[in-house]
Amino acid sequence: MNVYDGQKMADLLKPHGYRITEISEDADVSILNTCHIREKAEHKVFSDLGRLHAVKKDRKSRDDDRDMIIAVGGCVGQAEGEEITRQAPYVDMVFGPQSYHRLPEMLAQIEQKIKGKRKKIVDTQFPAISKFDFLPSASETPVNAFLVVQEGCDKFCHFCVVPYTRGAEYSRSAKTILQEAKHLLALGAKEITLLGQNVNGYHGEGLDGGEWSLGRLIYALAELDGIKRIRYTTSHPLDMHDELYDAHRDVEQLMPFLHLPVQSGSDLILDAMNRKHTVAEYLKIIEKLRAARPDIGFSSDFIAGYPGETAKDHQDTLELIKNVGYAQAYSFKYSPRPGTPASILQTQVPEDIKSTRLAELQDLVNVQQIAFNQSMVGKTLEVLFDREGKLPGQVLGKTAYMQSVTLNGDSSLFGNLLSVKIKHGHGNSLSGERL
Ligand code: 5AD
Ligand code: SF4
Repeated sequence: MNVYDGQKMADLLKPHGYRITEISEDADVSILNTCHIREKAEHKVFSDLGRLHAVKKDRKSRDDDRDMIIAVGGCVGQAEGEEITRQAPYVDMVFGPQSYHRLPEMLAQIEQKIKGKRKKIVDTQFPAISKFDFLPSASETPVNAFLVVQEGCDKFCHFCVVPYTRGAEYSRSAKTILQEAKHLLALGAKEITLLGQNVNGYHGEGLDGGEWSLGRLIYALAELDGIKRIRYTTSHPLDMHDELYDAHRDVEQLMPFLHLPVQSGSDLILDAMNRKHTVAEYLKIIEKLRAARPDIGFSSDFIAGYPGETAKDHQDTLELIKNVGYAQAYSFKYSPRPGTPASILQTQVPEDIKSTRLAELQDLVNVQQIAFNQSMVGKTLEVLFDREGKLPGQVLGKTAYMQSVTLNGDSSLFGNLLSVKIKHGHGNSLSGERL
């Protein structure tokens, strides 16, 4: 989502004479597009701000009359608002994820100096009108394009800041989504990943005026000329629905790989987290998806050391991981976030126990990931090539399961789905021969 927002910000500023620079020290405007999900991400913002401040001061000391406008956008901007300009007075602008469509206007205001001092802008409103009505169409796009169909979250998991930073669930209309998809395909996209914090909770206005589910939307997208692959992320188990299972069964372009975070394998912890489903219910969903699409692979997110988590709860999570056999998973130490119910619980797990549990989770996931990659050896997989490899003369692509595959070749292969016979499975990638 942040990558998508970043691309949109660049598209918004382009007509106003701004372009992306690869050298951040050279920038006239630096925008930090920030994440508030865990404390570590937030800390990074303040260390990056320190670095930018040094550049700004250095320019002043060299009498370089090009000043640098420093902006903090995204979810840290939303959550911290004016606190940022208090802690870092050299920041000129703070805005949340719902107001970045106003960037050109905000920048213009800042450039008008008031009494020799820059006017600061802090905009963390949730405007009544959707920003999507103001975002420009992409002017260029990668082979794998992102498309936001839904934003925000009403689930209020007890550890999570997203409902506060991204706001209430909002679904775009199928008409605007299909228009954007057509535009991306015309620009050369081959794969479209539908995005939303609760993407399978999508319930937008359909082309027939009724409400469409994500499953229904996927059927419509699959009809568009040139669409080779469809993905969606991130889903919540409670929002899996019949049309979506059907789409996994029927829609060839819908990739057999699903990120379906479960967070914990203990019913007690799931309840404490306010996830509103049990382990057995989650496993039932996995089973239904496998029935619809037998070759489907899964990934998940896990939190290690949620408040009150016992050694037994942790073992239950390891059991669940073994049981499902994930192709991939992300795991994080629980990070108390301001304003969330879990952050004020007295039962916080000590840091060293969190670290040990995280390492155990990650070791198990790594073993499974390698086994999953090795299970591909001897198979012929379709790979969509989209970028240069690390070594000259190599290109890199992705399988349906998001594994990286390198092949000798050049950019003429970009956008092509090629059959590759897999010879080796490694930790993070596969290698093989083009058929
Ligand atoms: N601490 C640790 N991990 C978190 N996540 C969300 N909030 C927290 C938190 N407070 C993780 C969840 C979620 C992913 C995007 O980030 O696993 O699925
Ligand atoms: Fe956060 Fe996802 Fe829970 Fe929403 S469903 S509160 S985004 S973890």
